[in-house]
Amino acid sequence: MTDHIQYSPEKDALILLDQRYLPNREEWFECRTTDDICYALVVMVVRGAPAIGVTAAYGCYLAGREVQGMDGDWKANLSAKLDQIHDARPTAVNLRWAVREMRRIWDEAGDVSLDELLALWLKRAREIQADDIEMCELIGRFGGALIDDGDTVMTHCNAGALATAGYGTALGVIRGAIDQGKKVSVIANETRPFLQGARLTAYELHKDGIPVKVACDNACALLMKRGLVDKVVVGADRITANGDAVNKIGTFGVAIIAKRFNIPFYVAAPVYTIDPETPTGDDVPIEDRDPREVTHIGDHRIPPEGVEVYNLAFDPTPNELITGIITEKGVLYPPYDLAIRKLFSL
Ligand code: MRU
Repeated sequence: MTDHIQYSPEKDALILLDQRYLPNREEWFECRTTDDICYALVVMVVRGAPAIGVTAAYGCYLAGREVQGMDGDWKANLSAKLDQIHDARPTAVNLRWAVREMRRIWDEAGDVSLDELLALWLKRAREIQADDIEMCELIGRFGGALIDDGDTVMTHCNAGALATAGYGTALGVIRGAIDQGKKVSVIANETRPFLQGARLTAYELHKDGIPVKVACDNACALLMKRGLVDKVVVGADRITANGDAVNKIGTFGVAIIAKRFNIPFYVAAPVYTIDPETPTGDDVPIEDRDPREVTHIGDHRIPPEGVEVYNLAFDPTPNELITGIITEKGVLYPPYDLAIRKLFSL
């Protein structure tokens, strides 16, 4: 699945498969303006760190198109729109990376016209999208080698094709193992409250004929105790300089339980998800989302009126719980601070 993020030159729009309605309905959401892009990011029409990065890259281009029709100083107008995209979600480093990448191109281009800048940005957005698929396939190749024939792999959230430009990171590892001729089945944790596991991971694996069972998040310990899980592979929104991995809320708990049962716990992510500027997972801003995602199922409120809830969307898994970090450049092993410094030649 590589067509869920499409730039249409005819419509001059970014067309996104609306992940809020999967698996029940395949609806498309068209973004033409910065506000459309930010809305799509915030309400999670599109989600998953690399997919957010690709969307942000096209978003910068669309912001420039919008500025073409505006009065005033185009540079100031455009800069404000880039800031708006940059701040749409706080945790995934890929969003920040994509906007910085577009700013870098702008800086390097010097005294360009807006038309010239837009041509450079559209080309780069297309490259970022294509590169992401290639990186995921390499992650799949390296990670696939760590999976044994007959394994059942648990994953949390959706780090699949839908969370990237295609193929996936954690699900890329599963696809890679299958491409290597192994039989693999998957346990997809449901992933309350947005249900990325039950809805999206189950949707894309089932569509590809990869055996998948959905489990409630709170079944993890018993499934592991019963020997039903051979390995855990998850994605990441940000990996810090010391190798802590920030991923969907609940990942930390899965890692602790995996350690208790000696089950290997891998994180799969492209190198640009590693943020050597941030020292530890505790330094990463954790998105605090709309309480309604927790209080309501559809239109029905579950806790009594007036009761407050937590809706922290991510948690940091400390590096000591991580067996290996699978990237497109190979697998990193502890001590991660050294491995990361070497990777970035720091
Ligand atoms: O809130 P989401 O759905 O954007 O969170 C996504 C995750 O936590 C993924 O595991 C992560 O972004 C890696 S995607 C390859």
